[in-house]
Amino acid sequence: MELTYRPRRLRRDRIRGLVSETTLEPTDFIAPVFVDATTDERVPIESMPGHERVPIDESVDRVEEVLEAGVESVMLFGIPRSKDPEGSRAWADDGVIQEALRRISAETDAYVVTDVCLCEYTDHGHCGPLEEGVRGDGEGGENVHAHDREPTLTVDNDATLEALERIAVSHAEAGADMVAPSGMMDGMVAAMRGALDREGFEHVPIMSYAAKYESAFYGPFRDAADGAPAFGNRRHYQMDPANAREAMREVRHDVEQGADVLMVKPALPYLDIVSAVRREFDHPVAAYNVSGEYAMLHAAAEKGWLDLEAVALESLLSIKRAGADLILTYFAEDVARSLGGAR
Ligand code: PBG
Repeated sequence: MELTYRPRRLRRDRIRGLVSETTLEPTDFIAPVFVDATTDERVPIESMPGHERVPIDESVDRVEEVLEAGVESVMLFGIPRSKDPEGSRAWADDGVIQEALRRISAETDAYVVTDVCLCEYTDHGHCGPLEEGVRGDGEGGENVHAHDREPTLTVDNDATLEALERIAVSHAEAGADMVAPSGMMDGMVAAMRGALDREGFEHVPIMSYAAKYESAFYGPFRDAADGAPAFGNRRHYQMDPANAREAMREVRHDVEQGADVLMVKPALPYLDIVSAVRREFDHPVAAYNVSGEYAMLHAAAEKGWLDLEAVALESLLSIKRAGADLILTYFAEDVARSLGGAR
């Protein structure tokens, strides 16, 4: 049989590594870490097996665990001791993230990224202070008849920008290496860049959650961080899952405002977006392999239906292959260890 091409020739042992196009390294990962000001012991997160909310006193130990697995970077999320309509604990000097940051940056070598958003800090769970909206903002409840509709509330974009500026500066003062706005407010990157530069933090990069979709895959995270909206949903600020071209406009807008790293979130259901951002832009591209992507593999593995280590590795490899340079993932430590990154 005369065949001009026999692809199987390059699939034999010993040559597979030489011709492989994509590799995963422990240094590709950022591990999310939850610091909780309301507890003095570690609290397991049920829907995210292996993850915990840790008290401020244990934040350094938690980050050390990540470093020991071979992962060099963490993303900090905070659960504040109290909430209010403005989310003012988000920029408090003695806030949960600020306290944890001071310790982590003084005592570890980790590269520390902070999530800059208000949804864990507001008592209504939205990503900024609210204002009365216009018809179509819909946070009062979509299914209500027009005549008995609640007053429509929505996030006040420009008031939120001012809060994001304060949060970014307070994180930088406390030792954040990088800040990552995740609220999908218009103009958030420019606002934060301006504030950081004015305060002498021009060296602090911004990783923008540039194309962040209104996704049902955030469910377990919202339990973990206690950040579910008390009413309505986030579809008036996060992106519609139906839209890909709009993601290019969102990302371009963030590039123009000075974003250093461009993130797509979630990862697996949006690999087309990761790949398009990779092609269109030359900035580093990040992808957030979110809580629901983690939870569903764990749930299936618990039933004995999937091999957890194999599907985790394959998922992360596919995100890298689609074009991500760095990956935020709850699998960071486990996969780093299986890649042999532990020190
Ligand atoms: C805060 C934020 C969320 C996530 C990261 N930052 C929740 C949300 O937007 O509702 C989700 C992360 C995950 O699901 O792993 N805005």
